[in-house]
Amino acid sequence: MPKRVLTTESGAPVADNQNSATAGVGGPILLQDQHLLEKLARFNRERIPERVVHARGSGAYGHFEVTDDVTGFTHADFLNTIGKRTEVFLRFSTVADNLGGADAVRDPRGFALKFYTEEGNYDLVGNNTPVFFIKDPLKFPDFIHSQKRDPFTGKQEPENVWDFWAHAPEATHQVTWLMGDRGIPASYRHMNGYGSHTYQWTNEQGEAFFVKYHFKTNQGIRSLSAEQAQEIVGKDANSHQTDLLQAIERGVHPSWTLYVQIMPAAEAADYRFNPFDLTKVWPHKDYPLQRVGRLVLDRNPDNVFAEVEQAAFSPNNFVPGIGPSPDKMLQGRLFAYADAHRYRLGVNHTQLPVNAPKATEADNYGRDGLMATNAYGRARKNYEPNSFDGPVETGRPLAAPYAVAGYTGTHEAPAHTKDDDFFQAGELYRLMSEDEKGRLVANIAGGLSQVSNDDIVEKNLAHFHAADADYGKRVEEAVRALRED
Ligand code: HEM
Repeated sequence: MPKRVLTTESGAPVADNQNSATAGVGGPILLQDQHLLEKLARFNRERIPERVVHARGSGAYGHFEVTDDVTGFTHADFLNTIGKRTEVFLRFSTVADNLGGADAVRDPRGFALKFYTEEGNYDLVGNNTPVFFIKDPLKFPDFIHSQKRDPFTGKQEPENVWDFWAHAPEATHQVTWLMGDRGIPASYRHMNGYGSHTYQWTNEQGEAFFVKYHFKTNQGIRSLSAEQAQEIVGKDANSHQTDLLQAIERGVHPSWTLYVQIMPAAEAADYRFNPFDLTKVWPHKDYPLQRVGRLVLDRNPDNVFAEVEQAAFSPNNFVPGIGPSPDKMLQGRLFAYADAHRYRLGVNHTQLPVNAPKATEADNYGRDGLMATNAYGRARKNYEPNSFDGPVETGRPLAAPYAVAGYTGTHEAPAHTKDDDFFQAGELYRLMSEDEKGRLVANIAGGLSQVSNDDIVEKNLAHFHAADADYGKRVEEAVRALRED
């Protein structure tokens, strides 16, 4: 078969891809060498801004299949029939390190899911942890600054990491989670995914419910010890990427079972924990898990840059029947992601194949901007309302309203009867086996003992003491022993 002809970007055949054009043999290069100029100039523009968090990740396509009836709780179209399948794209990630960072590190993992539903794309942008470090979005930039590379040393500093936590007692629950066994997943396949926030579902009758999503891995939970992880990072810094890519190429398709916890909206006000506080879980005995469906990943992207790097997930991409809760963190995220996408990918990022709806079409009056590809057609008006046949609103709200009261101001989130920063951290500690407690204490002490500032150490120790007396005592002993070494 004849070989295909190499062309320039404008499609003209390339005569020579090994030697640039010069003025005579051994002379300087000619400005008229379009192929050379284009090649060098394009190369200079290959990188785009990396994600400010979750920069390092891996993605795959698959589907979600409904296995159980949840129509009593939501009228979301993609959940309305048992057996219904929806195409999905999932991007996993680490959080703190930059694009070239290693996979097998102690860090939460992102679990960002795009459902290409017939009523538009639904993005559920979660983590492998049911809770988070903070509960107000105003703290997020400070938190992330403290966890990423220091502006002077250019590397992650235990001093900064623990200094932030010293001033954020509400992080104690998530710190306990992160320093425990699940803090370093063996691979992206061997961990759960959580929506983490509370979301709102609305049924056909207009009744509202608050829900939390849990994707339980069907591969089983597998984690690495700090020592195992260190060894793996040395051998293959891309261990999670290698694992996911190879499993799917081998036809071993990872899957997760989706469960939800459902709270009738009327119960939210008097629940013992603030149900919109992202540092808290809802114990399963209060709100049991109810199965919804099965998520399967079965296709690797063909091009990592086009499909994974350019993937854009936004927590405010909802579909009818699903909406936000008043969780302040979630509210902050409703702004942050699409704004990041406009900066990182441009205003028309929603037209890129991985981000565009697949089971329906976007049809609106947004126009133009850098790299617009939607042509729409000559008869289409670009304003609304109009007297022609342009798309019109449905008049049907996506989600139910919820009542608000009081005065505007910079309020702390309301505390419910059982709310404090430490109770659930203590509960998590008390659930652990003796071995697990030992590893947790050793992991915390390993980090905290590297902090030279006594005040930072003491403030953190006070948090573990407040969570559980035994927890505090053991961490304190371990930290003191390491600091005296
Ligand atoms: C107020 C708090 C938060 C803010 C302001 C925030 C902001 C951001 C931003 C700007 C990005 C980069 C987006 C991009 O460039 O595409 C990002 C990525 C991400 N965030 Fe957050 N985030 C917050 C909290 C959270 C929480 C609580 C979770 C999980 C429950 C989470 C999960 C993720 C994930 C999974 C990604 C990567 C998405 C992807 O794979 O493209 N974030 N976040």
